[in-house]
Amino acid sequence: MKIAVLGTGMVGETIASALVAKGHDVRMGSRSATNEKAVAWAQKAGARASTGTFADAAAFGELAFLCTKGDVAQVALESAAAGLAGKVVVDVTNPIDAGKGRPPQLFVCNDDSLGERLQKAFPALKIVKSLNTINCNIMVNPGMLAEDTAVFLSGNDDGAKAVVRRVLTEDFGWKQIFDLGDITTARGPEMMLPMWLRMWGALKDGEFNWRLVRKSK
Ligand SMILES: NC(=O)c1ccc[n+]([C@@H]2O[C@H](COP(=O)([O-])OP(=O)(O)OC[C@H]3O[C@@H](n4cnc5c(N)ncnc54)[C@H](OP(=O)(O)O)[C@@H]3O)[C@@H](O)[C@H]2O)c1
Repeated sequence: MKIAVLGTGMVGETIASALVAKGHDVRMGSRSATNEKAVAWAQKAGARASTGTFADAAAFGELAFLCTKGDVAQVALESAAAGLAGKVVVDVTNPIDAGKGRPPQLFVCNDDSLGERLQKAFPALKIVKSLNTINCNIMVNPGMLAEDTAVFLSGNDDGAKAVVRRVLTEDFGWKQIFDLGDITTARGPEMMLPMWLRMWGALKDGEFNWRLVRKSK
């Protein structure tokens, strides 16, 4: 499958590398077609890897992962939106307000979410919020944890969520995938970030995840 990864940070690189390793053709997008990190990644990742602007990557991919800073996600998608019309966009961003210092605060929460804002701003895109609650190494390799743990899906389009579920299962190895419902349910996973950050501080290690346990039948 041809996949766009919009973002050159650690999340973009980790997801892009995992997808190439699974035999997908991946184009990493950035504000610049010659972004140093993207070019270095493509050289390392081999023939299935390529780079371009956000717009180039969007036009290339049948599916896209949005892996930019949360506060610029809308700006990044604006330059990519034409190429993404009708396509599934996996939104892994968190709405961190970079201007508010530490511990980070959310710039949208409670009665709205970044996932919803993006879906409203780009109605032609099929936004699926997922993976934002999980460290990027675990996103693509949940088996590195001692037990099966949970990943969430939020989105308005069931077909789009089925596509994302397939990638999570077949390419990344996820077993506990919870469809929370429409894109308004992205509020919950986005609001897990402050708790995630406190757990990270307490454990002094970001490679953990949540597990859902229900009463025995
Ligand atoms: N780190 C994790 O394990 C983890 C886990 C879950 C979710 N997340 C979320 O995943 C996202 C990516 O995190 P990250 O640490 O990999 O990368 P990041 O440093 O948060 O973001 C890097 C990307 O943001 C783009 N960007 C920065 N300023 C921009 C602007 N003004 N306009 C357009 N694009 C701009 C950069 O574009 P250029 O390529 O042009 O520089 C780059 O591609 C974040 O939203 C984060 O909260 C991270």
